[in-house]
Amino acid sequence: MPKPSERPTVEALLTEATRQLAAAGVEEPRREARLLMAHASGLSIGRQIADPGAHIADVGGFRAIVERRTAREPFAYITGLRGFRDLEFEVGKGVLVPRPETETLIEAVLAHRPDRATPLRILDLGSGSGCIIVTLLHLYPDATGVAVDLFAAARECTRRNAERAGVADRLEVIESDWATAIDERFDLVASNPPYIRQDEMPDLAPEVRLFEPETALVAGRDGLDAYRIIASDLPGLLNKGGLAAVEIGAGQGDMVSEFMSDVGLAVIERRRDLAGIERCVVASG
Ligand SMILES: C[S@@+](CC[C@H](N)C(=O)[O-])C[C@H]1O[C@@H](n2cnc3c(N)ncnc32)[C@H](O)[C@@H]1O
Repeated sequence: MPKPSERPTVEALLTEATRQLAAAGVEEPRREARLLMAHASGLSIGRQIADPGAHIADVGGFRAIVERRTAREPFAYITGLRGFRDLEFEVGKGVLVPRPETETLIEAVLAHRPDRATPLRILDLGSGSGCIIVTLLHLYPDATGVAVDLFAAARECTRRNAERAGVADRLEVIESDWATAIDERFDLVASNPPYIRQDEMPDLAPEVRLFEPETALVAGRDGLDAYRIIASDLPGLLNKGGLAAVEIGAGQGDMVSEFMSDVGLAVIERRRDLAGIERCVVASG
């Protein structure tokens, strides 16, 4: 092993990584280099700034994760974790990385069901990492839930994250093609289904297009296939007065609201995300 004085310093490694990440088109390459350094070495960003001449033990490990990020692998797949509200979720291959805009759905549920002591029975259609159902069970300590996903990697991830958050004893995770395996009514049905049009795929960021599962992203030629199925199932899934909260893509509010109205549900809110984009349709059964 080279002596510390012969090994590259933190500053030299950061400069090298920043150059590589910038050339690969990563936005904020310096910041990402620092975050990757913190992940690889345990050196906080504060320490990196205070002591740029420091050395790290695993230079090869740092360079390897910089290579992965240079190939545009999502940052969350490299660290294996992503924050969502006040919880951390494990993520990895085959599972969509939780998005900040999905927190809009959680806010909508909290607004329409403010009593946290309610023993809600909740269904999450297409649970992925579990960010929606696990967060809701965390927020409503007397609630119980069912999470469905068609894909095993997603179901396993939902289970792991339910364990992590201490809500696994209140959650059943099952394989189902949307609601086909469900024979029960719920107080709340939540879903963030795939909603990207097939022809939009080539325009997506490489992190999404090359690494995230297409089955979590694309919903047919107009991006609305999953909503058609889910809306038609909702009347049979909701208790009287039950709530449906569905995440939508930009510009899909009119069509998704129409699907809900067509099956006899009352659309009670179209909630915007922090960017001002309509992000969640809320309907009542
Ligand atoms: C947009 S992702 C949302 C994941 C997670 N709920 C979130 O908000 O991050 C859609 C999820 O639906 C699942 N899915 C796709 N088609 C499905 C189907 N036919 N039945 C059940 N789940 C499906 C995908 O595997 C994926 O986990």
